[in-house]
Amino acid sequence: MPGGRCQLAPGDSRLSRAAVALYRNCLGTMIGIMRSTLAGSDAELAGRQPGQATSGLVSPKGPRWPRVVQTWLWLKRPTWFLDYCSRTYGDVFTVRLPFGITLVHVTSPELVKAVFGGSDDVLRAGEANATILEPIVGPHSVLVLDGPEHLRQRKLILPAFHGDRMRAWEGAIGDIARAEIARWPAGRPFALRPAMQSITLDVIVRVVFGVEDSQRHHELRRLILKITSIGRNPLPLYATRDRKLGPHSPWARFVRTRDALHAALAEQIRERRQAADLDQRSDVLSLLLEARDEQGSAMTDDEVRDELVTLLFAGHETTATSLAWAFDLLLHHRGVLSRLIAELDSGETQYLDAVIRETLRVRPVIALVDRQVRTATEIGGFAIPAGVMLCPNIYLTQRREDLYDDPAEFRPERFAGQAPPGFGWFPFGGGIRRCLGASFATYEMQIVIPEVLRAVTLRPASRRPARVRRESVTFVPHDGARCVVTAPR
Ligand code: HEM
Repeated sequence: MPGGRCQLAPGDSRLSRAAVALYRNCLGTMIGIMRSTLAGSDAELAGRQPGQATSGLVSPKGPRWPRVVQTWLWLKRPTWFLDYCSRTYGDVFTVRLPFGITLVHVTSPELVKAVFGGSDDVLRAGEANATILEPIVGPHSVLVLDGPEHLRQRKLILPAFHGDRMRAWEGAIGDIARAEIARWPAGRPFALRPAMQSITLDVIVRVVFGVEDSQRHHELRRLILKITSIGRNPLPLYATRDRKLGPHSPWARFVRTRDALHAALAEQIRERRQAADLDQRSDVLSLLLEARDEQGSAMTDDEVRDELVTLLFAGHETTATSLAWAFDLLLHHRGVLSRLIAELDSGETQYLDAVIRETLRVRPVIALVDRQVRTATEIGGFAIPAGVMLCPNIYLTQRREDLYDDPAEFRPERFAGQAPPGFGWFPFGGGIRRCLGASFATYEMQIVIPEVLRAVTLRPASRRPARVRRESVTFVPHDGARCVVTAPR
């Protein structure tokens, strides 16, 4: 790759675009370089070499290894690689990947705050997300929009996750969790992550989509599982994107499944609009249909459908994996587990909240968030060229020794009655893109963890906690968090 330049230009082949899309998906950035839509010179788009001056400032340093080596480490040894870069280069460093993709990581609370407070005109999230995500979530999704349109969708969605409204879902979430726990095998190892995925999927279908009819529930579940399994293998999916390779190509199967999912949701939306009790209902779909923007306008059916798909894909696996991590950590820290059970038995929930915060700190499911830099800017005294991704690094910031004692240790006590340090704990991202489902995810964890602990006694299937493994954009337990039910409680 001469001069480290981006090889793509407007008009390049679809295959090249698909390769970049695929590549970025694999890298876990969820964000593409929309070169054709960006202003900026080739050098800016490629990302300058370390030490090169830009208006008197230098770009952040980073490993000088070939991009292919950095890519392998990023994919296969992500925590080792991030720890190494942080130790060697400090609070701001550059990672270079093929196709001119350049990630500038920031790991100090002050700089994270600066990124989250930065102008939406300079630091864009939605525009870049669109490359990968738009075929899945649709053009109206809050994830792929920027500027006023993004803010409008956020304002329409956010009230659905207000604390008072969520309380109406407690019974349904508890029922779903108990039904799943009843299916767990006794005395032999099983993986908790898929079990948790089953719970969070049912919660989305029932509480978010408001589906009560069991046949439709079953059909939606089937389609979602199919689409998720196609998406787990992004290489063949994006390599066949938009190419006429017959009905059995991964992309063709994806499009068929997605269209079937859209059709089922469209039917659900149409029926719900006509429901006589629409204004009494507490599911997210009904609340979205009732929501009005500042001009008094409601969302169209297409907008509602895209937001439902967004909530599904943003909220289902993230919450399930966080639950799996919570149990993996609890089962390998018997003292913490005993204290949690004792406090829950006495009706206290403060320690549970600390356990959830500590899990999200030490095992963040999403390791970093990213903003595409639209025009050259400056951060922490470094020049940040247009075209690079500026990445507040959740994993590294949440493990800083100057913020946390023994930062690698799972120690919920640090949060008992204690708020996390500002911009030193942000598993849900921040600023105007902060996760819309943060309260919902936390609420779900507050219900599911006690349900499990009340119903069964678990022991870990292995002596050591699971290692972190990358799966697409998430950090997951390498073995799915295996455990054994030893007895009903
Ligand atoms: C533990 C579980 C979860 C984690 C760790 C998580 C994390 C995140 C992160 C890191 C972002 C990006 C924020 C940024 O760019 O600054 C995000 C965005 C988002 N999340 Fe979550 N999330 C979780 C659960 C959920 C749930 C349950 C929902 C909804 C049902 C949800 C809906 C969204 C949406 C809609 C966005 C896009 C917000 C925007 O672009 O304005 N998430 N989430």
